Amino acid sequence: MPKKTVHEFVAMKTTGEKITFLTSYDYPTAQFAEAAGLDMLLVGDSLGMCVYGYSGTIPVTMDQCIVHSEAVRRGAPNTFVIGDMPFMSYQSSLEKAVENAGRFLKEAGVDAVKLEGGVRVAPQIRAIVDAGIVVMGHIGLTPQSSGQLGGHKAQGRTLESARGVVADALAVQEAGAQMILLEAVPPELGEYIARTLTIPALSIGAGVDCDGQLLIVSDMIGQFQAFTPKFVKKYCDVAGIVTDAMKEYVSDVRASRFPAAENCYRMLDGEKERFDAEFK
Ligand code: KIV
Repeated sequence: MPKKTVHEFVAMKTTGEKITFLTSYDYPTAQFAEAAGLDMLLVGDSLGMCVYGYSGTIPVTMDQCIVHSEAVRRGAPNTFVIGDMPFMSYQSSLEKAVENAGRFLKEAGVDAVKLEGGVRVAPQIRAIVDAGIVVMGHIGLTPQSSGQLGGHKAQGRTLESARGVVADALAVQEAGAQMILLEAVPPELGEYIARTLTIPALSIGAGVDCDGQLLIVSDMIGQFQAFTPKFVKKYCDVAGIVTDAMKEYVSDVRASRFPAAENCYRMLDGEKERFDAEFK
């Protein structure tokens, strides 16, 4: 399948065909995702928790995001890949925002970048778009500012809060973003925003009526164990499968059941006799 473009994502919104979206942080998982037919992959700064074991996304650096984006790009050459701009890679100035967005394209070959925030990052979105880069906005629960939000809490659950999320959505579209991600908002609000905006509105915990769905791959495959947000559906139990496999390996090694004959190299024809004559 050829790589989809942002224009095709807009066409999918128009026809009601759902966009499928997962995070990915490494080469093998990106290969699996491409083989499974995912439309888009996000190299999220959630890699801080899912790959490095940090308690949040704040410590994640541009260099880490670039290295993981490069690996995902190699694993999924025909899938639309989005690099996630980490904390302090875009907040402090427009120049820094454009430079760092550009690094994702030049060094990792991604197709777009994502940044968190609505009204307050509209100038950064505009500056990056003006540099010719496709931007995905990210509003609702924005983990990089979870301190201000009082934790990883759903947003838009009161009329006042919902109005703020709608204002953010409009600001992101107005600033030129070509897609938007809504995180952890009630489905009524997700539906309203998806219906109101002309750009595709993707959901992670924003209900089924958005234009597509994102999950964090480590949640979706049951690999990340620290906590599980309400919006996650686990499709398999990688932690259980891998731990059981490791336990079996430990037991095989201890009992000398591994390696078996089929796991061993054999001496070339005629060499065993010569070897035995010399060493046995
Ligand atoms: O980093 C990430 O994976 C994200 C999701 C939580 C939306 O931004």
